[in-house]
Amino acid sequence: MSETHKIIIDTDPGIDDAMAIFYAAQAPEIDLVGLTAVFGNVNVDQAARNALVLADMVGQDIPVARGAERPLVAGPFEPSYHVHGDEGFGTYPAMVPKGRIQEKDAADFLIEQAAKYAGELVLCPIAPLTNIALAMERDPVFTSNLKKIVLMGGSVREGGNITFHAEANFYHDPHAAQIVMEADCPVTMVGLDVTHRTWATREDMGEIAAAAPKLGGFLRDVADFYINFYVKVRGEQGCFLHDPLALICATNPELFGYEEAGIAMTLEGTAAGKSTIDMSRRSQKIATSIQAEAVKAQFMAGLKTLDL
Ligand code: RIB
Ligand code: CA
Repeated sequence: MSETHKIIIDTDPGIDDAMAIFYAAQAPEIDLVGLTAVFGNVNVDQAARNALVLADMVGQDIPVARGAERPLVAGPFEPSYHVHGDEGFGTYPAMVPKGRIQEKDAADFLIEQAAKYAGELVLCPIAPLTNIALAMERDPVFTSNLKKIVLMGGSVREGGNITFHAEANFYHDPHAAQIVMEADCPVTMVGLDVTHRTWATREDMGEIAAAAPKLGGFLRDVADFYINFYVKVRGEQGCFLHDPLALICATNPELFGYEEAGIAMTLEGTAAGKSTIDMSRRSQKIATSIQAEAVKAQFMAGLKTLDL
């Protein structure tokens, strides 16, 4: 019997977030314990609503908790509507979910679930890290209850994607990123150093849609908008698989190579959100290489089973 991974995804859906959540929902080795929503690609109300919509779409009773609407310290944030669409899913209009948001907010939900599954729970943040930092502030044993955190964010040698220096999730809340990168549990940073090695084309998304017309068709449609953004900024017909990689790294760490290092965040100024190796800080795993073909094959194979 292969190992089952109990996972909570902290998310700002978001097109690549939808890919990651669908990937997790179909993976037999993942038990998706919950989704926690945060501002980022969209505002937090849109993020929580979209998380509920995705849970409805996969037909699973996945609890969704609403979290932070702004960064811990940094100034006002701009949702990335130009990348993910006005409601988060390309040109799709706002959808009305069937499910309801949890009464507890995201940080309290995370604390509760970490205590319930102490030693077992894997946290996969694929958005600004505000909810996780708030849970750490509220409960000093929160991170010691976690098995590990595998997050999508940051960059050590690849430069930025939202600014010249900064990756978007770290940029939106650099103070939270600093807190989480120093958590007293194992943290793996899956940043642009590896996500920029994976690429999905319109043809790839078409293959997923052909194999799984309902859910794969939705992903193909929303990815079209996301790919249009990449055409504008990079002149290339495809998109990076940022968020799904955190999920694949959580269950298949052997597909990545790591450096053990601390991370220092630039908290303000023109380089705000930049992440730099700093050996004087708590050492964590920084993914810096990837078996890109194997990871892409796993992503494709998983999403092709979505309608089963
Ligand atoms: O930099 C990529 C990250 O920013 C992804 O999580 C994407 O969804 C956006 O939030
Ligand atoms: Ca995201």
